[in-house]
Amino acid sequence: MSEQHQSGASLHHARVLVTGGQGQLGRALAQFYAAGGDTVAEPGRAALDVTEPLSVRAALDRVAPALIIHAAAATDVDRCEREPRWAAALNAEGTRNLALLAGERDIPLVYVSTNYIFDGHKPRGEGYAEDDPAAPLSVYGRTKLAGEEAVRQLVPRHAIVRTAQVYAAQGRKFVQTMLGLADAGKTTIGGVADQWGQPTYATDLAAGIAALADINTWGTYHLTNAGSCTWAEWAIEIFRLSGRAVTVEPIPAATFKRDATPPANGVLLNRHAAALGVALPDWRDGLRRCLAEMGELRAE
Ligand SMILES: NC(=O)c1ccc[n+]([C@@H]2O[C@H](COP(=O)([O-])OP(=O)(O)OC[C@H]3O[C@@H](n4cnc5c(N)ncnc54)[C@H](OP(=O)(O)O)[C@@H]3O)[C@@H](O)[C@H]2O)c1
Repeated sequence: MSEQHQSGASLHHARVLVTGGQGQLGRALAQFYAAGGDTVAEPGRAALDVTEPLSVRAALDRVAPALIIHAAAATDVDRCEREPRWAAALNAEGTRNLALLAGERDIPLVYVSTNYIFDGHKPRGEGYAEDDPAAPLSVYGRTKLAGEEAVRQLVPRHAIVRTAQVYAAQGRKFVQTMLGLADAGKTTIGGVADQWGQPTYATDLAAGIAALADINTWGTYHLTNAGSCTWAEWAIEIFRLSGRAVTVEPIPAATFKRDATPPANGVLLNRHAAALGVALPDWRDGLRRCLAEMGELRAE
């Protein structure tokens, strides 16, 4: 069981700084906090570059946050494999830059991490608990894990929130790719059927992260939409809900030549968050709401 610390008053209605504020999760967090009446600063990379210590210090001076949520990262996992120095500068060193100052100023910090820190070798039906040993297979996983270690070492009041397969209405990820294939006239596609995980709607994840930060209990958490599916099953549900007539033929992951190796079993057991009463809805429910937000929902 990883460490959990209860301390201090609620952080609700506080000043929140979100790094990577223009990314999928950053935008969702900003929307969540703004809707709740909190003051939120969500600078993009130009205003807060985590790889530049001076930029980090200036942003913290400017915003004076009561809570930092670190959502900026190098998230293109294949590019991380090809450009490991870029990945390390952002995911490991960038996180360290932020963690140093957060620790120095005793500002609580939520670090968003990933299921890529696990090797994914567990059989289907099992999943990874918060205290399972890390064994990343990729540069992305290794550099995000180094970020976790910096946060644990430097920030007394921290939450590490590992998630997976994040998508949003404004993103350019799997949901948009599938809709694009259908709209380009594809009637049959291959869907990977030997890797599975938990598609996680950024809006749901943002609400869950805020709930954990609000409870103010520090430690390591897994937070994803509930249930699990293969990429093929995810694609089938996207086509069904969006009313696209596309057949998904199951194929092995080895069909696609990729630079990074994802965990075959990417499922995270959300035990610590559930113990605090924080649980996200089923992945199909999140997908339905995302497609509705995009104006693409055609079936229930
Ligand atoms: N996406 C997933 O499937 C997934 C899965 C598990 C965990 N996570 C984690 O969840 C978090 C949020 O992911 P996301 O999907 O929202 O990613 P995203 O959409 O790729 O957003 C990442 C943001 O980081 C920004 N960024 C890049 N370099 C930066 C720098 N040097 N300084 C400050 N910001 C910088 C990017 O800005 P530019 O666009 O200007 O480069 C982008 O807005 C990340 O920590 C990620 O590791 C994501």
